[in-house]
Amino acid sequence: MWRYLRRGISTSTRARASPCSWWDHVTPAPKDPVNAVTEAFLADPCPYKINLGVGAYRDDEGKPIVLQCVREAEGKIAATNFLESTSTAVSSKFVEESAKLVYGEDSDVVKEGRFAGIQALSGTGACRLFAEFQKRFFPDSRIYLPDPTWSNHHNIWRDAHVPERTFHYYHPDSKGLNFVALMDDVKNAPDGSFFLLHPCAHNPTGVDPSDEQWQQISSLFKVKNHFPFFDVAYQGFASGDLERDARAIRIFLEDGHLIGCAQSFAKNMGLYGHRVGCLSVLCNNKIQAVAIKSQLQQIASTMYGSPPIHGIALVSKILSHPDIRAIWHKEVKFMATHVQRMRATVREALEKLGSPLNWQHITNQVGMFCFSGLTPNEVDLLAKEFHIYMTKDGRISMGGVTAKNVDYLANAIHEVTAFDQDAKILHNFSA
Ligand SMILES: Cc1ncc(COP(=O)(O)O)c(C=O)c1O
Repeated sequence: MWRYLRRGISTSTRARASPCSWWDHVTPAPKDPVNAVTEAFLADPCPYKINLGVGAYRDDEGKPIVLQCVREAEGKIAATNFLESTSTAVSSKFVEESAKLVYGEDSDVVKEGRFAGIQALSGTGACRLFAEFQKRFFPDSRIYLPDPTWSNHHNIWRDAHVPERTFHYYHPDSKGLNFVALMDDVKNAPDGSFFLLHPCAHNPTGVDPSDEQWQQISSLFKVKNHFPFFDVAYQGFASGDLERDARAIRIFLEDGHLIGCAQSFAKNMGLYGHRVGCLSVLCNNKIQAVAIKSQLQQIASTMYGSPPIHGIALVSKILSHPDIRAIWHKEVKFMATHVQRMRATVREALEKLGSPLNWQHITNQVGMFCFSGLTPNEVDLLAKEFHIYMTKDGRISMGGVTAKNVDYLANAIHEVTAFDQDAKILHNFSA
C-alpha cells in the first residue's frame, strides 16, 4: 500500500491538482480610486509630495493626528476588561449616544426607544448592513444615489444586489447644487423609493443644500413617501458644530419621517483604524424596533460575527463623559475652522497670482472636500510636475492642505490651469 502510493498515484494526483488551475479565471479587481492615489503617492520619492486623495484630517507635517479627547478616553478605559457581558452594555450605551448625536439629545425617538440601532464596522459597514436589510425586506426596491457620490456607495449597493439609479445633485457650471433637477428626480421617482442623502459636507462635491432647500426636499419626500437614508460620515466638518451639521436630519425628523442613518466616527474622531460606526433605523413603535434590530443583528452575525469593542468603548466614553465631550467639540471646531481657513488661503493665493478663473466655489463649498473643477489632464499634470496627488475627478481633500503646503499647492494649480488655458487657446487658434 505504502509503496503503491509513493510510487505512482500520489505524484500523478499532485500533477492534476496543479495549484494554478483553481484561480486562472480570477483577474485583478478594479482599483479603488482613493487607494490608487495613495499607491502613486507612496511610490513617489519626492520629499515635498502631497497626498490630497484620502479624506482624512492631517497635521502640518501631513501626518494623521490622535485627538486629545481620544487620549483622555483611552486613559479612562485602560483598565477595562472587555468580557462578553461588558460588551453588551458598552454596545447599547454606544448606540444610544450615537443616536442622540444625530436625532438630538432630547429626541423622542431615542427616549421612547423607537429606533433599531446596532454598532457597525464604521460608515462603510453601516451602509452595507442597510443595503443588505433593504434587499432582504424590499427585494424589488432600488437605491437612488446622488450624482456624484462617494464611489463606494455604488459598490456597496451593487454587492447587496440592489439596483441603483442616480439623481441630479451637482451642477458643473455653477459648481453648486442643481436643485431644480434634484427636485424633479425626487418627484419622478416611483412613490416609496429609497434615497441616499449626505446630510452635511457632501463627498465629493462639498456642496450641501441650504436649510430652506432641505425643508422643500423633506416636504416632497413626504408627498412621495420616499425613505431617506442619511450617510453621516462628516458630522461637524461642514460648520464646526455637531448640532448644526445634524440640521438636515432634524428637519426630516420634525416632518415625521421614518429615516435611517449610517454614522461614522472615522473622521470626526480620527478613529479611522478602529472602524467605529452605527446604523440606526427609526420605527413607528418599540415592537417594530425590536424586530428590526434582531434582523440587523442577524445580518451582521453572518457577515462578521460581531465588531471589535475597543473603538466603541472609546466613542461611548467621549460621548457620555461631559468633560471629554467638551474637548471633542472644541477639536471638531478646530479642525473645521482650519479647513475653512485653508480654503480661503488657497482661493486668495490663486487670485493674488492673477488666475483669470473663478475660484469662488473653493470657499462656497464646505467640509472635507473641494470639488475643484480641475480636469483629468490638470490632475495628471499636478502629479507629474508637482508631486501633488488627488482623484481624477479633481476632488481635493482639504484635510491634507496645511499651512506649510498651501502656497505651493495654489501655485501649482495656477501653473497647470494656466498651461491648460494656453493649450486651449492654441488649439482654438489652430483649428
Ligand atoms: C460619504 C461617505 N460615507 C461613508 C464613508 C465611509 O467611511 P468609513 O471610513 O467610516 O467606513 C466615507 C469615507 O470616505 C464617505 O465619504
